[in-house]
Amino acid sequence: ETIYLKDYTPFGWQVSDVHLTFRLAPKSTRVISKIHFAPNPEAPAQEFFLHGEDLKLIRATIDGVEVTPEVTPEGLRCAVPDGPFLWEAEVEIAPEDNTALEGLYMSSGMYCTQCEAEGFRKITYYPDRPDVMSVFSVRIEGDLPVLLSNGNSVDRGEGWAEWHDPWPKPAYLFALVAGDLVNFPDRFTTRSGKEVKLNIWVRPGDEGKCAFGMEALKTSMKWDEDAYGREYDLDVFNIVAVDDFNMGAMENKGLNIFNSSCVLASPETSTDGNFERIEAIIAHEYFHNWTGNRITCRDWFQLCLKEGLTVFRDQQFTADVRSAPVARIENVAQLRARQFPEDQGPLSHPVRPESFQEINNFYTATVYEKGAEVIGMLKTLVGDEAYATALNLYFDRHDGDAATIEDWLKVFEDATGRDLTQFKRWYSQAGTPRVEVTEDWADGTYALTFKQHTPPTPGQEVKEPQVIPMAVGLLNPNGDEVVPTRVLEITEAEQTFTFDGLASRPVPSINRGFSAPVVLDRASSREERAFLLAHDTDPFNRWEASRLLARESLIAMICEDAGPDEAWLDGLERLLRDRDLDPAYRAMMMGTPTESELAQVLFERGHTPDPDAIHAAKEVLAQVKAERWADLLPGLAAEGTVDAPFAPDAEQSGKRALGAAVLALTSRLDGGKAARAQFASADNMTLQLSALAQIIRVGEDAEALAAFEDQWRHDRLVMDKWFGLQVGATAPENVVPRAEALTRHADFDWKNPNRFRAVMGALAMNHAGFHRKDGSGYRLLTDWLIKLDDLNPQTTARMTSAFQTWKRYDAERQALMRAELERLQAKPKLSRDTGEMVARILGA
Ligand code: ARG
Ligand code: ZN
Repeated sequence: ETIYLKDYTPFGWQVSDVHLTFRLAPKSTRVISKIHFAPNPEAPAQEFFLHGEDLKLIRATIDGVEVTPEVTPEGLRCAVPDGPFLWEAEVEIAPEDNTALEGLYMSSGMYCTQCEAEGFRKITYYPDRPDVMSVFSVRIEGDLPVLLSNGNSVDRGEGWAEWHDPWPKPAYLFALVAGDLVNFPDRFTTRSGKEVKLNIWVRPGDEGKCAFGMEALKTSMKWDEDAYGREYDLDVFNIVAVDDFNMGAMENKGLNIFNSSCVLASPETSTDGNFERIEAIIAHEYFHNWTGNRITCRDWFQLCLKEGLTVFRDQQFTADVRSAPVARIENVAQLRARQFPEDQGPLSHPVRPESFQEINNFYTATVYEKGAEVIGMLKTLVGDEAYATALNLYFDRHDGDAATIEDWLKVFEDATGRDLTQFKRWYSQAGTPRVEVTEDWADGTYALTFKQHTPPTPGQEVKEPQVIPMAVGLLNPNGDEVVPTRVLEITEAEQTFTFDGLASRPVPSINRGFSAPVVLDRASSREERAFLLAHDTDPFNRWEASRLLARESLIAMICEDAGPDEAWLDGLERLLRDRDLDPAYRAMMMGTPTESELAQVLFERGHTPDPDAIHAAKEVLAQVKAERWADLLPGLAAEGTVDAPFAPDAEQSGKRALGAAVLALTSRLDGGKAARAQFASADNMTLQLSALAQIIRVGEDAEALAAFEDQWRHDRLVMDKWFGLQVGATAPENVVPRAEALTRHADFDWKNPNRFRAVMGALAMNHAGFHRKDGSGYRLLTDWLIKLDDLNPQTTARMTSAFQTWKRYDAERQALMRAELERLQAKPKLSRDTGEMVARILGA
């Protein structure tokens, strides 16, 4: 059954308050609800329907009189009075049998919840939709030391606790946690003097991994006050770490629940990348308190209203507290790696989708990351000051609302006087726009012509021109900037912009800072790219120049049997020798396009990508770099060495990133000797893991893997890395056998999403390994998706996207992938989640 945005109607009743009592028991939890309903004057007349799934209804009353509702698998219908009434119900649920990890479930002996998007209906009968907002009071009875819910603590005693959340909220923000937990406490004083208790709750033994997350939380709270004028609004802010969790984390009001991998951190067990990600996710969930909770979404089609904005805010935060250019490059690399394939394949959908079967399938890179890019473009177009004014108006006008994209854009129109009708297409048109650039030069006037075109996507054959803010700067042939960055506002299908009074023909630097999420089609020469690599003042485009040189060099190696581009390698070498450049930035410059990205480019140019040939080219390039830079590497390695005590900050992590990039080359010259030495002496996970990756790549890894396992077998999060890296870093021919062997390992607890993803996610991400010609990669993944679907549809469905690029490849591989998708589709009791994904991927 498909649900459409255009069919939205408000719920027929308002909920003034909700009282819930939980009597916890693993197999038979009782949930008693008392809910005051009153007719909604703004809604059309309708039948009274409450969502409810997998619930055993014990009794229900209306105004104290027993009723017998009509119960279906989706909920219940009941005759109700004309005016306000009190609904009371008691249901029974079995958290221990809840393997889908939606609703109330158990993880390592603790009770926890995940209600976004539609999980509350697995807890009790309720209008489980985000536009129904209410004040919740919760009583928890259970014989566990820690009993938590949303809002402020009211009272508690032996075996019970009561909570009250004064802020009206939709059911998806409800949360409950009960367990044998310990807390890592701290406090924060808001700008206006409110004292807030902060806690991170963890299983005993994990207290030592909370300090970093707590600092990140306090920094986020301060940042939202300074950058957006937003203060926290309850007496307490609780975070809980949970081992079994489908996604990263969840912004439940006053009680954020995190996948333990996204909050627990220590230098010994976490990499620099983990620290940076944890900081960003803590910020993200905290920022939702205003963009998501105080202002929520009218319906799930508006998901980007809270997610796009909150991702944009967490990206601004990271840029502020770390390095802005490095953060921007990382974000764009992620967008290209995850969102572009989605937008350019069968799963393409608008930032605001118009229909869905299962909303969990739309928590996508398009809604989140492209949604954030759309907000970045809006800010670029209106300017920083107008953005700030618009945001203040948004918070003033919509606090307490369940809002829409129309509301959001209206705020910008009212604050700036701009007409955003055309800009709105970014929310409704799917697909990555392509912008072709041509230039003209005559009599001191330089002209840039842009032609935009968005290819058709499923269900959208014809696209209209979009508003594209294109940041452009011009350099003269000496390398000086003659026209500093200016934003050209492209609105037409074809549009020309001119620059007068130039002494010589300039070199353009286009889409600086990646001001618009488009693909630029521009025939620029190698010389020009090398020039920008040397001289561009925009750090993003300087990196972009190197990326394009690397990409074209690899494509030539694959298609024309060429050797690596010497001029590029020379330019890159000059840059690597520049000690004034941030080590983190130089480390990024050493990166090359992913194999998957190369496959996409080959496909677009009419070639059939051969995963083995792509992999081989990257190997040759790395070997050539290693040999060519043999003299340079020791100096760079020294620059990439940290002498101070470990700190997970931008400066140290940048050095370690440079060190890792160097080690990856050195290990091609010394057979892994330096890597083994680093592995033996490492006192932090970043160094230990970057060394292990090279040991695995070189091939003689049994000893190191055994030592690592011995050292870390007690730590689940570290063991996830051990499982994942073996599949991720191994040579293509060994990937599938290795993944297969790991699924037989005693610690392959496949019901745990982190462990499942560690192996199966790494398999899908290893391009040449997954796409083995014999189809063994496709088969292994599908075997496990079939198995997981019965237990956990949500995680299964997400992982089917490994097949979204299937049409890029040769006929044999396409047939193999299609056969696997059809095998999955034919599985008995296929979930709605996976069913929708497979049908979309197959294009049915
Ligand atoms: N709102 C959460 C976040 O962005 C994501 C939760 C999504 N969960 C789900 N089951 N779809 O941080
Ligand atoms: Zn979010």
